[in-house]
Amino acid sequence: MSAIKIENLHKTYASGVHALKGLSFEIKKGEFFALLGPNGSGKTTMINILAGPTIKTSGTVKIGGTDIEKDREKTKMILGVVPQEISFDSFFSVNEVLILQSGYYGIKNNQKYIDEILEKLNLQDKKHANTRALSGGMKRRLLVAKALVHKPKVLVLDEPTAGVDVELRHNLWHYMRKLNKEGLTILLTTHYLEEAESLCTRTAIIDKGELVALQKTKDLIQSMGNAKKLTLTFGKKVSKIPEALLPFDPKKQNDHEIILHFETQDINKILKALESIKYPIVDLDLQGKKLEDVFIELTYNRNGKL
Ligand SMILES: Nc1ncnc2c1ncn2[C@@H]1O[C@H](COP(=O)(O)OP(=O)(O)OP(=O)(O)O)[C@@H](O)[C@H]1O
Ligand SMILES: [Mg+2]
Repeated sequence: MSAIKIENLHKTYASGVHALKGLSFEIKKGEFFALLGPNGSGKTTMINILAGPTIKTSGTVKIGGTDIEKDREKTKMILGVVPQEISFDSFFSVNEVLILQSGYYGIKNNQKYIDEILEKLNLQDKKHANTRALSGGMKRRLLVAKALVHKPKVLVLDEPTAGVDVELRHNLWHYMRKLNKEGLTILLTTHYLEEAESLCTRTAIIDKGELVALQKTKDLIQSMGNAKKLTLTFGKKVSKIPEALLPFDPKKQNDHEIILHFETQDINKILKALESIKYPIVDLDLQGKKLEDVFIELTYNRNGKL
């Protein structure tokens, strides 16, 4: 059974903005799914339709097999949502926020579970701090804790790591991976593409309210071919690109750097060419295609923005 099933979803805001234009996709139970898209492509609109605050214009949305229009209460219980916007009632402490949130779902006496989540999210020291006294990254982690108090089956995260520092971001990844392994279905939106690349088995890319890609993350990256980019740094000024490098689409970056492009199967040709040139090479940097390249190709380049 699917965890989330969206069919031909449209949203037109009162302002006339057509934010979602017939979006359809399905997230299977247990998946770790990435939803990517540039600013304004409709990610938050879609998530807010799942979560409740935004009403769809047309189409159907099912959560755990139940239509959101048929049984809102049931679908709300299945879902835990980490919203993009941070807002807390600033009168409460971290612990109180989580107790109140539990009460909202009719859950009592779950302090032990709350403590467990606080520890996993490195917030245990802030348990009694007022939410006003939290840093941006701490607030974001508190949003994650809030989304988990009722033990949802599907967790939807709208940019959960925005503003979270590197170490804590890695902690959060580790925690999300663990939750997913334990059976939680996760839908993640992020602008950190390496995050989607390392966590999510499938990736959807939307642009201007339309689906432009949906594949296994690995396949999506491979769909760009096996092209590689090699940056050569020379120990002295390169006045003219050496002839041996010409077959590899060379681009002069500056006086000391040349970027080459080639397919993986041509690796021996490029090694031979490098041997034959006279300039001293002092450094090389080899890069394969990344999810980021696919993303740029399918969104900005498609629109002629770059
Ligand atoms: N409440 C609203 N009223 C009117 N228009 C809105 C509203 N919320 C969003 N929009 C518009 O809908 C479009 C999609 O916005 P949305 O917030 O869903 O994008 P997003 O993909 O989440 O972007 P970001 O990456 O910046 O968070 C944008 O054109 C936005 O201006
Ligand atoms: Mg958004």
